[in-house]
Amino acid sequence: MVAQVLDGTLVASKLDAETAERCSHLTARRVQPGLAAVLVGDNPASRTYVASKARACARLGLRSEVIALPSATTTAELVALVATLNARADMHGILVQMPLPAQIDAQAVIQAIDPAKDVDGFHPVNVGRLALKQDGFVPCTPAGVMALLDYYDLPARGRRAVVLGRSAIVGLPLSLLLLHRDATVTVCHSRTADLAAAARSADILIAAIGRTALVTEDFVRPGATVIDVGINRVTTREEVAAYFGDDPARLADIEKKGYTLIGDVHPRQAAARAGQVTPVPGGVGPLTIAMLMRNTTLAAERACRQ
Ligand code: GUN
Repeated sequence: MVAQVLDGTLVASKLDAETAERCSHLTARRVQPGLAAVLVGDNPASRTYVASKARACARLGLRSEVIALPSATTTAELVALVATLNARADMHGILVQMPLPAQIDAQAVIQAIDPAKDVDGFHPVNVGRLALKQDGFVPCTPAGVMALLDYYDLPARGRRAVVLGRSAIVGLPLSLLLLHRDATVTVCHSRTADLAAAARSADILIAAIGRTALVTEDFVRPGATVIDVGINRVTTREEVAAYFGDDPARLADIEKKGYTLIGDVHPRQAAARAGQVTPVPGGVGPLTIAMLMRNTTLAAERACRQ
């Protein structure tokens, strides 16, 4: 069996078309949705993500402002910046790119964000709303995964979902979303005994644990839906051969950029066993950004209704 590849880029483009339409309605009413993206330090991956988010804003008609701060920024300085952004009527969404440098108290920063502008869905008020199935902001990556399952008509109801990873950004909120859709959910983590056996019980397997190609064939029940949330880099030709065979596009990546992206799922092994898989890149990644655009537009719509 060769698994069906779930095309996140395609689903993101459909979500983006809806968001652009909602955005143009708001702009016609003189409320252009605005996103403030705060980047602290010089983490290259974070810089790339923030740049992609700003480009998505421009493409869909949202306004964005990227505020880049030095790595030595203090918690107090960041909290003060967030307070000014909370007060700005032209900024409907505030995003502070994670991870933050070690000296910053990330929770204090998240809690300083007005929950009505917390388009990442990280504020405890929004986390609580999600837990209680109330309206709020749902974190973008988990929301993107659910949109992908919906688009491909892969219901969660009554199925066994196993989430590898319990992070506040992905694993925990996604386990709640799956539970709210009546899946039977198991959350696994670094202390889980026999991870592979737990994963093999899944009809829907979510890999969000941050370890390159951890999910090998012994993790995958034949026919399962395998969603890969990981974004890791491989840099050597030997690794490319092990994970992708002689795929010329991957070798070209190494030549050109010095790396190619891979998720938490072994691509060849999973594709040989699963019913559906998501690619990396082009799977969950584009959906995360699409959901951020949607949440920011929703924040502007809600602000209009105030
Ligand atoms: N770091 C990794 N994913 C995310 C995300 O969705 N939002 C923010 N703010 N930081 C992240």
